[in-house]
Parts: sequence; C-alpha cells; structure tokens
Amino acid sequence: MGKPEFIKSWQQNGIGFIELNRPKLLNALNRQMVSEIVSALTEFDRDHDTRVILIKGSGRAFAAGADIDEMAHDTPIKLELLNQFAEWDRISQIKKPVIAAVHGFALGGGFELALSCDFIFAAENARFGFPEVNLGVMPGAGGTVRLTKAMGRTKALEWLCTGEQMEASVAFHYGLITRLVPEEVLFNEAERFAAKLAQKPPLSLRLIKDTVNKAVDVNVYEAMQYERKNFYLLFSSEDQKEGMKAFVEKRPANFRGQ
Ligand code: CAA
Repeated sequence: MGKPEFIKSWQQNGIGFIELNRPKLLNALNRQMVSEIVSALTEFDRDHDTRVILIKGSGRAFAAGADIDEMAHDTPIKLELLNQFAEWDRISQIKKPVIAAVHGFALGGGFELALSCDFIFAAENARFGFPEVNLGVMPGAGGTVRLTKAMGRTKALEWLCTGEQMEASVAFHYGLITRLVPEEVLFNEAERFAAKLAQKPPLSLRLIKDTVNKAVDVNVYEAMQYERKNFYLLFSSEDQKEGMKAFVEKRPANFRGQ
C-alpha cells in the first residue's frame, strides 16, 4: 500500500499512534481507511520498539461510522466478494495493547472500532451509539456481539434497537469504557496511560490480553487451564528473570520484551 490518505501514524517513546484523519466527514470509515488502520496496527504489532498502540480521531469526532455514501449501493454479492469484515477481524488479532481515545462521536463502525480496542479513554463529550437501525441495516463489524458481551442482552438490545446516542457517563456506568475524563485532558491522559503500559514487560501484557480474551469466550475450567499455560510460558522469558531479580535487588526492572 502507498502512503496512507486517511490516517496519520507515527511512533514515539514506545507508543504507536494512529490518528484518523478525515475530519470533514467526521472520520467516516471508508474501506481504504480501514485497510490503512489495519496496516498501521499490524506494522506496530510487529515492531519491537512499539509496546502499545493508541488510536484517536482528528477534528470533532472519533469516527461517525462506516462511510454511508460508499456502501449505499452495495449488493449482498458485492459485500460477500469484498469480504471487508475480514479486515475488521484483523483488528482483534493485534497482540499488543490498543487504546482508543474517544472524543465526540463514536457511532456505528466508529463504536465498533473503539470496542475492538482493549481500553477506551473517553472525553465527557463522547457519544457512543449504533444508529445503523435508522439506516435500515444493523451493525456488521461486531457491534451486536461486543455490546451484548459488554453490557448484557437487555441493555444492548435497547441501544441497538433505538439507535440512540449514549452519553459517555452512561457508557462508563455500564463498564464500556476504561476512563472518563474532561475533553481538554483526553489525549494527555490516554498517552500517560500508554506510557505507563510501555514500561511494563511486553510479553506479560501480550499474554494477559490473550488470556483475558480467552476468558471472555470459554468456560471457567478451560480459561484457567489456558491461564496456567501462559503463566508457565512467561518463565521462559528474560523479563521474568529480570523482574524477579530487580525485586530482590530493590531496584526498578528494565524490561526488554524478550
Ligand atoms: N458516512 C459518510 N459521511 C458521514 C458520516 C458517515 N457515517 N457521518 C457523517 N458524515 C458526513 C456528513 O454527511 C457531513 O458531510 P457534508 O459536510 O459533506 O454534508 C459531515 O460528515 C458532517 O456531518 P453532519 O453535518 O451530519 O454533522 P452533525 O454534527 O450535524 O451530525 C452526526 C453528526 C449525528 C454524527 C451525523 O453526521 C450522522 O448521523 N452521521 C451518520 C452516523 C451513522 O449512521 N453511522 C453509522 C454508519 S453505518 C455503519 O457504521 C455500519 C457498520 O456497522 C460497519
């Protein structure tokens, strides 16, 4: 892929930044933009120096959903052949922690993108919702599934069927978001949290994320077995030796991700 048109991405102090950059259309996610996001995520995921990834929007929104103009004339066969949601699936395959910093609208695909991240930092002016019902469709990139798992069937159905916008405080109340902060400090707070994670042993973060994701989907016994294997696996890392040695020597650990 050539130079990205709809996002900006850069790396600083172990944090990979992705900024959605289509502000005039409230960062409406067209297919190329989703490909660019996935490419940047994949690149950061493979880059040894990137320890955590932060996604944010430019202008007055995080993202107001999939690009309605682009899909207005789609047919089922075109959608099947495009297989565009395979791109979305790759977002949840990212192994490193991904933080979404959400201000303004996070609607439809924008909400799905945020829910695909591991942590959501939201400004008090953030508005979440699935307005697809008002367009005669429904979420297609995991929205019904993720919202139901996050807030339970009863409340998820209400938001999905009304298509109304949820205030950030409500999203916080239902545990959909990690932190609710004033708009003016959103990006600083999200970055501060990213910087904190960037100091942690990357292999631990990786396997914690992997294990928690497993716990969401399987029964308790299987999840515990899975946890145990990942716990054992970390004892083959240099960072386990460094972390425990540093504790005994009463000094800060220097984790190198190996
Ligand atoms: N797709 C394409 N263009 C969009 C868009 C979208 N999802 N959301 C906003 N825009 C465009 C608007 O058309 C407008 O463009 P113009 O200036 O060229 O007219 C520009 O962004 C600014 O938007 P508004 O003037 O509408 O701004 P507003 O503040 O009055 O309203 C809003 C903001 C409530 C978010 C409104 O824009 C809106 O309802 N947007 C659509 C939200 C939506 O339905 N999202 C779901 C999409 S479907 C989906 O995401 C499917 C899936 O699961 C993958």
